[in-house]
Amino acid sequence: MDYQELLNQVLEEVRPVLGQGKVASYIPALARVDPGQFGMALATVDGELFGVGDWRTPFSIQSISKVFTLALVLARDGDALWRRVGKEPSGNPFNSLVQLEYEHGIPRNPFINAGALVITDRLSSLTGDARGVLREFLRAESGNPSVDFDPVVAASEAEHGHRNAALAHFMAGYGNIENPVPNVLEHYFWQCSLAMSCADLARACGFLARHGRRVSGERLLTRSQAKQVNAIMLTCGTYDAAGEFAYRVGLPGKSGVGGGIVAIIPNRCGLCVWSPGLDARGNSVAGVEALDRFTTLTGLSVF
Ligand code: DON
Repeated sequence: MDYQELLNQVLEEVRPVLGQGKVASYIPALARVDPGQFGMALATVDGELFGVGDWRTPFSIQSISKVFTLALVLARDGDALWRRVGKEPSGNPFNSLVQLEYEHGIPRNPFINAGALVITDRLSSLTGDARGVLREFLRAESGNPSVDFDPVVAASEAEHGHRNAALAHFMAGYGNIENPVPNVLEHYFWQCSLAMSCADLARACGFLARHGRRVSGERLLTRSQAKQVNAIMLTCGTYDAAGEFAYRVGLPGKSGVGGGIVAIIPNRCGLCVWSPGLDARGNSVAGVEALDRFTTLTGLSVF
């Protein structure tokens, strides 16, 4: 299959929707990004890399970081993790508070903000340095030693992070946060601020296409755990749009409000697409369209 030719074709087909949607504005530093940008990259399991458009431009990975923190905690904690967070779709927006009270401070899944805060809390307890461990992992997997946090984005989110603070305090009230809430929030805002390109992310999610093996060949997750993370991406990775994403794209995927989406074709490749204009549920309009075009053109979905 000629991946470069396919990506070129996808770019041509998504041109009509480029610039559609709204850039996230609840984190003011993200509102300054040019909405007309678009990039897409594909990294095969054996190290080939292809890309189109702005595929080398770093952007704010935001919730895509939740895939990596989940994998790092699952690798260390195994199934014990599921006592503190569920694995069912929430059907609610990513920053919703409503389910937490009647579900006694146990978030529905690790990808909504409440669940991701629990995971970050756990990664801090397990490693003593959630941020550092995550950055090292992403540098190694992406092969890019300059992957780093964006302090301006982290500060901007901290300043406007009332909903996340509410979620974390509420869960602490149920005994489901182990570390001081301000520390958990700080680590979470830093992880979301990581700046990476489509090329970096397509490579970095390769361990999920390689059934849990890192780029070095070393195992991070068991084959079964890699399957579990992919399954949760499919059912929860795009929040209350996960059904539509599965219907249109048919791949495990994870979006972020920076406009990025990673998707996995098991045994074959990691994909990353980026375009900052979001739909009402926080997913990139051109990003979903591009992945839809890609799987439709190639027949490469998990179905
Ligand atoms: O916590 C937040 O609201 C953001 N840092 C991340 C949200 C996000 O990326 C949701 N994804 N579509």
